[in-house]
Amino acid sequence: MVWRPEVIGASRADAWHADREVVPTSRSYDVVVIGGGPGGYAAALYGASAGLAVAVVEKEKVGGTCLHRGCIPAKEFLESAAVYRTVAGAAEFGVLSSSPAIDFSVTQARKQKVVDQLWRGLSGLMKGRKIDIIEGFGTYLGGGQVQINGEEVVSGDSVIIASGSLPRTIPGFEVDGRLILTSDEVLSLTELPSSVAVIGGGAIGCEFASMMSDLGVKVTLLEALPSILAGCDKDAAEVVARSFRKRGIDVHVGVAVHGHQPSGSGTVVSYGDGQSVAVDRVIVSVGRRPFTEGVLGPNAKVQVDARGFVAVDEFMATSEPGVYAIGDVVATAQLAHVGFAEAIVAIKSILGEPVVPVDYGKVPWCIYTHPEVAFAGMTEEAARAAGYDVVVKKDPFGGNSRARIIGETEGVVKVIAARQPDGSAGRILGVHMAGPWVTEQLGMGYLAVNWEATPEEVAHFIQPHPTLSESFGETVIALTGRGLHVG
Ligand code: NAI
Repeated sequence: MVWRPEVIGASRADAWHADREVVPTSRSYDVVVIGGGPGGYAAALYGASAGLAVAVVEKEKVGGTCLHRGCIPAKEFLESAAVYRTVAGAAEFGVLSSSPAIDFSVTQARKQKVVDQLWRGLSGLMKGRKIDIIEGFGTYLGGGQVQINGEEVVSGDSVIIASGSLPRTIPGFEVDGRLILTSDEVLSLTELPSSVAVIGGGAIGCEFASMMSDLGVKVTLLEALPSILAGCDKDAAEVVARSFRKRGIDVHVGVAVHGHQPSGSGTVVSYGDGQSVAVDRVIVSVGRRPFTEGVLGPNAKVQVDARGFVAVDEFMATSEPGVYAIGDVVATAQLAHVGFAEAIVAIKSILGEPVVPVDYGKVPWCIYTHPEVAFAGMTEEAARAAGYDVVVKKDPFGGNSRARIIGETEGVVKVIAARQPDGSAGRILGVHMAGPWVTEQLGMGYLAVNWEATPEEVAHFIQPHPTLSESFGETVIALTGRGLHVG
């Protein structure tokens, strides 16, 4: 294997090899990956494509949180909610049907079918690339050795820690799987409660609030910060907040939760200044914490930071030479696609190839609420705080012909550019979208931000008509100072 001297230093690598205790190992690989989630399986696939011998140690099923308890099942539920909305609103299109009803056990079964199909596909793909999937709990012992279930030891010239994350909990709301749920339990429900309190208005909380409300559940959303979706641009977050209010979701921001008192078949949640709400179930969605318990053995020289995340440099290298960490276990955006990108950085570093580190300020974000949110780059607030004078244009979806046709006019496209000395709009700093299918439209905004393009350059390209993507084109044309439909 080839060491990348800039990353770990050739002398550190030599020292690492010299230091290694000789423990009998049953199998050895170029790379051993602990954890088969999006970070781990992407590292395995990318490494195997480059000709490396790779093993993945996985305690459950490859696919990780994203496939089994996160992105995929949550989006399947949200799609069921979208189908329900479509049927409920069909009469407006002259399509007459009876009012929809939900059988959530069927929704759950369909979700599981989608997950299982993807899991079988991923397992087959990994086996086809000759990746060894070792079933069991992997502990990194140090010196390139990984122990499985406290027994067999396998070794890797390099080791990648990709052990992921777990839902955070809060005192006074101990998860019991009956009254108090995290995303893990919500995604296994076979029956919908009639009312829920969602604690935390981030991506997970808002997606569950949106899905449940659309399926007829009475939702109360309790968020400690002054707004929901706090990391998003204010205009985009406000689109979701307005839609939630219109749909009867009871949103309380700037409130602390104090505890809950079981009552009958449900519980009463106290929050704010002496307020309370009686609900069937509570969903705690206050973030996710890194999972390292039992993953790092006492002799591993891998440092973790004060919050428990594995500390890495921009090449995903940990403090122990030859050991890398990627995905939710490191303190970067907890997104599956960021895990994919980090996997590529780690494998290229292992191969000693030139590496472009992940530019975390410009990664794509997609939130699948109704309406959806998608963005890349700086919010208007962040751009101003960073010292930019900015030019901003917005195109509400209300003026977009395709949005009128599909009957989904809530939302806006907002593009933020750096103001040049002559007052015109220069480099595009941020693209923020809220509205119909914006998660599928972000690609061009992402490209514009990461290409560091100017509105003039992007406005040259034609958007097909009528499409939702015209709103991005219109906004960028407006930024050149000569808008068509946007002033
Ligand atoms: P988050 O960190 O995005 O949001 C948690 C929210 O809970 C914050 O707004 C926080 O202020 C609030 N909060 C914390 N303690 C609270 C308390 N005691 N009372 C009331 N509010 C409280 O975490 P979330 O939504 O759980 O997601 C976890 C991770 O997964 C995030 O990094 C998120 O980006 C990622 N994710 C991304 C998705 C997407 O991009 N579509 C979907 C799901 C998760």
